[in-house]
Formats: sequence, C-alpha cells, structure tokens
Amino acid sequence: MPIRFVTGTLQGAGINPCRGLKNRMAESIELIRERGLPKHVAIIMDGNGRWARQRGLPRTTGHQAGTQAAERLIRFACRDLRLPYLTLFAFSTENWARPKNEVDFIMDLLDTFITEKLAEFEREGVRVVVSGDLAPLPDKLRYRVEGAIEETAENSRLVLNIALNYGSHEEIVRACRQIAERALSTEIDPAEIDEQMLASSLYTAEIPDPDLIIRTSGEMRLSNFLLWQAAYAELYFTDTLWPDFGPEELVRAITEYQERERRFGAVKEEE
Ligand code: FPP
Repeated sequence: MPIRFVTGTLQGAGINPCRGLKNRMAESIELIRERGLPKHVAIIMDGNGRWARQRGLPRTTGHQAGTQAAERLIRFACRDLRLPYLTLFAFSTENWARPKNEVDFIMDLLDTFITEKLAEFEREGVRVVVSGDLAPLPDKLRYRVEGAIEETAENSRLVLNIALNYGSHEEIVRACRQIAERALSTEIDPAEIDEQMLASSLYTAEIPDPDLIIRTSGEMRLSNFLLWQAAYAELYFTDTLWPDFGPEELVRAITEYQERERRFGAVKEEE
C-alpha cells in the first residue's frame, strides 16, 4: 500500500501545534499562583545593545526590541499572572553618559511607549508610577510621564513602577536631605529618625520592597538599583538578553524564587 502524506498545515487539519505548549504554560501559571506569587518583581533589563550587535544591527534597534519585550511582559504580568507590582529599570542616573544620539533615542522611545500604551493601561487597570528624578528629562517626556501617572492613578490591578533617571545613591541622598530639612525646621527630632522614616522618604515609599530582582544578560550586580529596598530580595540572574526575555522565563524565575527559603535573617523554627 502506498504511503500517503498528509498535505497542508496542522492548523488546516484542525490541530493547533501550540496547544500543548499553551496548556503547559497555563498549568505553570496556575501552579505558581497557587504557591503564592511574589508581591513585587523588579527587573534590570540589560543586554539590548548586545542583542543588536549579535545581529549586526544598531544599538537603537536593540532598545526597540527591548521595549517590545517590556510591553509583552507588562501585559503578561497584568493579564495572566496578576502580579501586583512590577518595577522596570528603564534609565539610570548613569545612563546620561551614553552617546547623545542613544540617550535621545531612548527618551523618544519611552515617550512613544507611554503615548501608545496609555489606552491599554487604562483598559487593563495598570497604574503607572515612577521612581527617579523627572526634572532633567526632556519637557515633552516629563509631561507625558506626569500625565500617565495622573491618568492611571485610580487603577489598581498592576502597579507599574518605571525607574526613570533612577539611582539608589541619588535616592538615598535626596531622602537624607529631606529628613535633614525637616529636622532643621524642628518638625522632627533627629532622635525620631529611623528605618521607617528613611524608607518613607524614598521614591518607593508607597511600594512594598521587591521580593524578587531579576537581571538579564549575564551581569551579576545591582548597578545602583533599589539598594535599600533589596535588603531581603531574592536575586535571579540569567544569561538571556533582555529582548529575548519572555513570559516563560519570568515563570521560571518565579518558580526558582518559590523554591528558595526566605528567612529574613531569622532561623527556621525546627533548627
Ligand atoms: C539596557 O541595555 C537597556 C537600557 C539601558 C535602557 C533602555 C531600556 C529600554 C529601552 C527598555 C524599555 C523600557 C520600558 C519601560 C518600556 P544595554 O544598552 O545596557 O545593553 P548592553 O549592556 O548589551 O549594551
């Protein structure tokens, strides 16, 4: 009997080749949700430049691909995971030292990102907040960011914290200056200054400390990111370059986080 080949696509035959994959992903999501999600995931999105270089493309194309990865992840975190807080490190206080054309490109990219995503954020219940000093940003971007913060203030499904012109050292110095001014005006007694007061003077005053900090691209350092807030965060480093970081790897990072034992400096009861 001659062998008969099935022609046409699997979909044409009513078979969805992605079905198994999708089901496995749905199961993984359900599992990590049952085990208890971290409340706050913060990400150092690194490797856009290398991703572009590997493809013989300009660095700016890497940032474009990185923005698409960010969009994909925000949607996944909000819609599928129902993660309460997500921080993305978009631009550091040190990033101004990059070539002007790259800085300008990133500023324009962030402007476009916020402009294009605002309607979706409204629809999906994403609240935009920012950590960082907005004053040195181009006026257009600053207004755009301030507008997004205002317009999404009532949303509560996902708090998207964009670290923009952010650096922990600047943040802590700024907090100390504020506290010193309050002490100088006798509003507070220096003896009252404690960890709580410092924490509530940081950009992240309204946000819980991150439970999980992810850095992509194989670099294993925090680079002035959430240094105070990272005191008890679990760290996850991956070689994946940011534009390639997708929902599957976020699920993997959370799974690994859930397998770790967080003791916050204490010992387990039975020890
Ligand atoms: C890191 O890659 C990326 C940045 C310094 C900033 C830009 C980030 C984006 C454009 C992502 C989009 C952000 C949002 C919130 C939409 P790199 O240039 O340091 O890469 P390299 O280390 O390989 O050179």
